[in-house]
Amino acid sequence: MNLNERIPNNVNLSEDKRLQRALEKWLPNFLSWWHDMGPEGFQEKDVWLRTAIDVGSEGWAHFDYVKMPEYRWGIFLEPAQPDAKVGFGDNFGAPAYQEVPGEFRNALRRIIVTQGDTEPASVEQQRRLGATCPSLYDLRNLFQVNVEEGRHLWAMVYLLHAYFGRDGRDEADALLERRSGNPDKPSILEAFNQPCDDWLNFYAFTMFTDRDGKYQLSALAESGFEPLARTCKFMLTEEEHHMFVGDTGLSRVVKRTAQLMKENEDVREVGGIPLDIVQKYINFWFSYSLDLFGGEISSNSADFFAAGLKGRFKEQEQYTDHIAAEGSFTMMVVENGKLVPREVPLRNALNEILRGEYVKDCEKGLARWNKALTDEGMSQRLFLPNIRFHRHVGEYAGHNLDLDGNLISKEEFEAKKSEWLPTKEDREYVGSLMKPVTEVGKIANWIAPPTSGIKGKPFEFEYVRL
Ligand SMILES: [Fe+2]
Ligand SMILES: [Fe+2]
Repeated sequence: MNLNERIPNNVNLSEDKRLQRALEKWLPNFLSWWHDMGPEGFQEKDVWLRTAIDVGSEGWAHFDYVKMPEYRWGIFLEPAQPDAKVGFGDNFGAPAYQEVPGEFRNALRRIIVTQGDTEPASVEQQRRLGATCPSLYDLRNLFQVNVEEGRHLWAMVYLLHAYFGRDGRDEADALLERRSGNPDKPSILEAFNQPCDDWLNFYAFTMFTDRDGKYQLSALAESGFEPLARTCKFMLTEEEHHMFVGDTGLSRVVKRTAQLMKENEDVREVGGIPLDIVQKYINFWFSYSLDLFGGEISSNSADFFAAGLKGRFKEQEQYTDHIAAEGSFTMMVVENGKLVPREVPLRNALNEILRGEYVKDCEKGLARWNKALTDEGMSQRLFLPNIRFHRHVGEYAGHNLDLDGNLISKEEFEAKKSEWLPTKEDREYVGSLMKPVTEVGKIANWIAPPTSGIKGKPFEFEYVRL
């Protein structure tokens, strides 16, 4: 582990002078992006952050106060497996690719760029949230997520620089040029162009959108291109905390709302977030995050699998047939204004299969939030909308479907939209509650404190020195 270099790494960067020079040239551009587009207003503050210093399951993380611009963004890959093989697809069993196979070069670059693009975008989406944090604990978690998304960007940029030539370097530069929500140079994927400007958005984003990241990274962790697999495996360990922040954040909002409902049926009167607004935020971020998996019927998914580039979730653990050349998958599609089942060759349905794994995982979050309601003696329930609801990518895009996934007319959708998705008024109301609470051990009224702090520290800890 070379922690003392300008770019901490476990890839022997100092032995590859050409690559080291290229990345050291990219570093100031990254820092200037971080300065312009990273968390606003807290760059000079000490934040109690974890930094990756190892990839072993024990002790990979070091916790201490750091000023964010001084964070040690490093390049860390899981150790190489001796005799690694391509684990699926047409080249199943062949030696894993240590270099980019010429015929898959464009596909692989596209996969890496698409993943890489999400990392700076989420930092940009969240850059103003610090000003309205509900507690120092939450403020620290926001910044932890932000710096690690920055490191994930490094991870993808490393692959572009190390394994692609000129075009890789150009793509790495372009990753710093696109801007979330900018109409002229937007981020590649739509969920990453949506505003994330209040903390309910932030928790829903880290719950649902970072969780898409988990499934994409898991599929890429299976990759036959070994440097990508090794990178993604380590990113997954960091991603866990991001989802934890979202999942527990929403759970704490729900718990607090339930407590306030006992004081006053109309929680607005007592400064809480009504459950129906929470439900609308769920509907919004869940549906946008489902889009990130791509079309239900996808020749790209078939090609990526055939090439051994992108596998299924837990490909090795869950499946015995790693060729998947036979077999089919039946899904509902819209045909002549009706939902009808269609059988699709298995490899063309891999986006939908990965999406299904994701939905099962999201359900567990919902069960936890509903338990928080039960624990507070409430009978109300939150739920996930049907996967066909409010989709902008794939078979259901361009159609109108209700929360149960039934086709409806455009007029019906428009009439119901304000009950299903956050309205301007909902967003304004949530926004009106977003007042910063920065005293050690204090918390905003609309959210419950966490059950424990970070890494053995209590909730009453000075997670950020203001
Ligand atoms: Fe990430
Ligand atoms: Fe993340």
